[in-house]
Amino acid sequence: MIAPTMERDVSAIVQAAIEKHGARRDSLIPILSEINRALGYIPGEAFQEIRRQLKTPTDPVFVSEGQLYGLAGFYDMLSTKPRGRHVIKFCESAPCHVVGGQAVWNTLRETLELENGETTVDKKWTLLTTSCLGLCSVGPVVLVDDDLYGNVSPEQVDDILGRYE
Ligand code: FES
Repeated sequence: MIAPTMERDVSAIVQAAIEKHGARRDSLIPILSEINRALGYIPGEAFQEIRRQLKTPTDPVFVSEGQLYGLAGFYDMLSTKPRGRHVIKFCESAPCHVVGGQAVWNTLRETLELENGETTVDKKWTLLTTSCLGLCSVGPVVLVDDDLYGNVSPEQVDDILGRYE
């Protein structure tokens, strides 16, 4: 169960996101992104809170919880589960794959002892695969938080990971 202070935080964060982006259907992605940024992920309480705060007398079912979960599940940048302090996204699309991506992926998995979607026990790392990041000419490509690494080899993995606290 969520702590009372966290409940208040979620409510205030949702309210601030709605005020910033507007109580409109086309603002749902920016609202969800704002909450994701503030909390590191979107807890179930936030979905309930969005519905509660967006409910109007003329449109009592502005958006369903299922629709909100659907949106959050569709976008890579959003997560309904807590993530690590650093998120690694490995491009698994074919152009990166054919220039050695599989070996880099295996090294990441083995070094961090993680599978796709998992987070280390110390909450430092979350490892994810992603589709093409638009930098196919410098594959294999790895994104760590907002830092892009191209032409990554398995030998560089330790050095890249070592740059993060
Ligand atoms: S296929 Fe990896 S960046 Fe395009």
